[in-house]
Amino acid sequence: GSTWKLEDHPKLPKGKIVAMVVLDGWGEAKPNKYNCIATADTPTMDSLKNGAPDKWRLMRAHGTAVGLPTDDDMGNSEVGHNALGAGRIFAQGAKLCDLALESGKIFEGDGFKYIKESFASGTLHLIGLLSDGGVHSRLDQLQLLLKGAAQHGAKRIRIHVLTDGRDVSDGSSVGFVETIENDLTQLREKGVDAKIASGGGRMHVTMDRYENDWNVVKRGWEAQVLGEAPHKFKSALEAIKTLRAEPNANDQYLPPFVIVDENNKAVGPIVDGDAVVTFNYRADRMVMAAKAFEYENFDKFDRVRVPKIRYAGMLQYDGELKLPSHYLVSPPEIDRTSGEYLTHNGVRTYACSETVKFGHVTFFWNGNRSGYFNAEMEEYVEIQSDVGITFNVQPKMKALEIAEKARDAILSRKFHQVRVNLPNGDMVGHTGDIEATVVACKAADEAVKIILDAVEQVGGIYVVTADHGNAEDMVKRDKKGEPLLDKDGKVSILTSHTLEPVPVAIGGPGLSPGVKFRKDVPQGGLANVAATVMNLHGFVAPSDYETTLIEVVDN
Ligand code: 3PG
Ligand code: CO
Repeated sequence: GSTWKLEDHPKLPKGKIVAMVVLDGWGEAKPNKYNCIATADTPTMDSLKNGAPDKWRLMRAHGTAVGLPTDDDMGNSEVGHNALGAGRIFAQGAKLCDLALESGKIFEGDGFKYIKESFASGTLHLIGLLSDGGVHSRLDQLQLLLKGAAQHGAKRIRIHVLTDGRDVSDGSSVGFVETIENDLTQLREKGVDAKIASGGGRMHVTMDRYENDWNVVKRGWEAQVLGEAPHKFKSALEAIKTLRAEPNANDQYLPPFVIVDENNKAVGPIVDGDAVVTFNYRADRMVMAAKAFEYENFDKFDRVRVPKIRYAGMLQYDGELKLPSHYLVSPPEIDRTSGEYLTHNGVRTYACSETVKFGHVTFFWNGNRSGYFNAEMEEYVEIQSDVGITFNVQPKMKALEIAEKARDAILSRKFHQVRVNLPNGDMVGHTGDIEATVVACKAADEAVKIILDAVEQVGGIYVVTADHGNAEDMVKRDKKGEPLLDKDGKVSILTSHTLEPVPVAIGGPGLSPGVKFRKDVPQGGLANVAATVMNLHGFVAPSDYETTLIEVVDN
């Protein structure tokens, strides 16, 4: 319809090829030995930064600028790519769940009413990431959910924990389990039969994404539903302490375990008549588990036993698939994204990344929507990520392959927008391995070079940016910014994202000579990029989009 028609930009031409490069986990911070980006050899990114001062700037990529509850919240890829693609700031899952829990509305909603029907005779299972990182879930929300569920009639509750160590410090799982065990003790004193039933590390159990490795979800299913795992313990605290004592063990990759009673019987398998809630609000790493719980026809692994349950997600994770069909809190309605507009206005798009970030430049970019808007106008290409390794072992990941795909797409001249995500800074940064992260940053920089060379050849335009910080700071810091030391005097490694701003650079032979960054959007953030890119395609962004970062001055 005509509502999709974008106005022509008064000064900028249509038809240019625009390369949109997102370096995942690439923030800007002072150089020091924990700044892997500064340490690494990154001549291409350096040349952008040290080039024309009106074509490189920093942007906010965390907190309220991307729809998170507070400015103490670090950025993440979901909210970052949502903002980049949608051009507006939406209150995100974390915030929406806070509101629903604080007001108690969550317990009056259709989703809760649905699972509540199981409370009379079944068990309520809560499955999710046990963490206060705030990226996928939050411990305080789980606590409120637990309390509220008991108040609303749940008599038997089982929690299936996934340990973090990725958005929070490694080893913090112990404290989180203690906290939740405390709550469970209090519930038991009130007559609720409440226990932790199983667990495992988030990267090894349940929380795979973009179908990289279904075995991860299978291990979760076996522990949570079937009550089977290689490790059996009498308590979750004992489980985590014992498993963490193994050589090279860490929270992210703990093996699956189940909690058993005196007779060695699992205390909480999921059975007919039970209710299940996955309490992560973030979608990417819950979609696969949601499919396993919800789909009748399912062939990704042998589920062995498929209990008849009432299942709800904390949020609906995929708006296009309507998955899950029941949910406790309505997700942000991220509509009218730039991708959808551009397909309606003749812009052909190519998007590519490797599996672990593929959905970032497609699903998240398009407002948590899977699939194409218009398959004739778009092509999405996924490069299979390495499976079963931690990325410090292969820090170059598939950066070269992604860059070559982008290069070929640019040189083919079949697309107006070629969009990629380069995962290295983030995925290797999350391992906490500083040396490997330096190698990762160099690889990402080399990939940018390949893409910029192709842009040069076709007379195109580039936009190079990032979704949030990670690799630029690998150490936890005190209030003064000095590295924090642990009890052995060693620096505390930071595996998570940061609050740092991210760079954005524009250029290329196709960029009209008068284009430069405006000076009057100093608070600009990721949500300002969509309007900017629409301009570079020759259009004016819709009026409710966050303002463009560029202006065109007459020469
Ligand atoms: C993850 O899911 O890997 C981390 O929790 C967040 O990383 P991302 O937001 O960069 O994907
Ligand atoms: Co990350």
